[in-house]
Amino acid sequence: MFEKISAAPADPILGLTEEYKADPREDKINLGVGVYKNEHGETPVLPSVKKAEALLLDRENTKSYLSIPGTAEYGLAVQQLLFGEQADVINDKRAHTAHSPGGTGALRLAGEFIKRHLGEVTVWISNPTWANHKGVFTAAGLPLAEYSYYDAAKNDKDFEAMVADLEKANAGDVVLLHGCCHNPTGIDPTEQEWQALAELCQRKGLLPMFDFAYQGFATGVEEDAAGLRIFTKVCPELLIASSFSKNFGLYNERVGAFTLVGRNQEEATKAFSQVKTIARVIYSNPPAHGAAVVTTILNDATLKAQWLQELADMRDRIKTMRTEFVKTLKAQGVSRDFSFIEQQNGMFSFSGLNKDQVNALKADHGVYIVGSGRLNVAGMTHTNMVPLCTAIAKVLD
Ligand code: LMR
Repeated sequence: MFEKISAAPADPILGLTEEYKADPREDKINLGVGVYKNEHGETPVLPSVKKAEALLLDRENTKSYLSIPGTAEYGLAVQQLLFGEQADVINDKRAHTAHSPGGTGALRLAGEFIKRHLGEVTVWISNPTWANHKGVFTAAGLPLAEYSYYDAAKNDKDFEAMVADLEKANAGDVVLLHGCCHNPTGIDPTEQEWQALAELCQRKGLLPMFDFAYQGFATGVEEDAAGLRIFTKVCPELLIASSFSKNFGLYNERVGAFTLVGRNQEEATKAFSQVKTIARVIYSNPPAHGAAVVTTILNDATLKAQWLQELADMRDRIKTMRTEFVKTLKAQGVSRDFSFIEQQNGMFSFSGLNKDQVNALKADHGVYIVGSGRLNVAGMTHTNMVPLCTAIAKVLD
């Protein structure tokens, strides 16, 4: 029966990790998948997470099922992180949150919700965007359109082109925005631009959807939510997919959240009841551990302060690596100006390297980066910096 099935292509990001693992070269460098590494090239469990896990081990008294959307404590903690502790959307009970298996699970819930309940609408994604966005929304049966985001010649955002494209969207269409640390470019809208985008969505009757996977990796947990919080003031309805893979380092626990904001409590509650129906037929109810860790940390002032510091340390190390990367490229004789890399936010840098250069980096130097030219800056260390920059200098020659 299976003889007619052909092999699927490898995933452009996770497939790269497999290739890297199979590479026997000892000096190989993995700057593919978005995983934070410390100065020793390791991804250890955050100490605040370890402490929370010790508490949970002691306190946990059942492995019984969670409810379909997870616990109310987790939902509230997620909302407070997104909107601020005393936000109107929370106090007015216009927000509902479902604990999802990772940020991808949240996006898939969003996709299914849109397809089943919002009719024949198009999802607008940025060009470029995270490699999995297309797959997730296509799998939900939704048509996609792209809006311009990046000007390769300037290595910068192209806000005018973005707005011009979004002006073409029809009322009811969904606009997917990256809450911060745009993946893959690392370039985010300014507050004025967020405001203009929110007004555009409101004026044209578009539904904003935020993919918020890197909160805390640009400037800080509160600061990074500025765009989303502007939208909550301007747009009455919103969808948000959160991930805690990166900011809590809980990658393999698959902990995320899908948050729906409605115009009022009644509409939000009714719409959210449909989200529960969708989750039930996909994964039934979520895995408990990762969300229990997040809830424990966010609801304990001491642990939260420790986590915020650990997050700041990750953010600062990445910033240091950006500066060092630009400096070392210069020192290796690279004449092309890479200073834009210091202005980008989050884990990634859109290097401008083309496909041939990306392939040569892998084949000739054991340096793995995503095909689009996206580099995971969080994988750079003082040890791999010179070999990395030497390899880049060679492929640019
Ligand atoms: C990435 O962009 O590298 C991460 O979000 C990991 C993934 O699932 O692709």
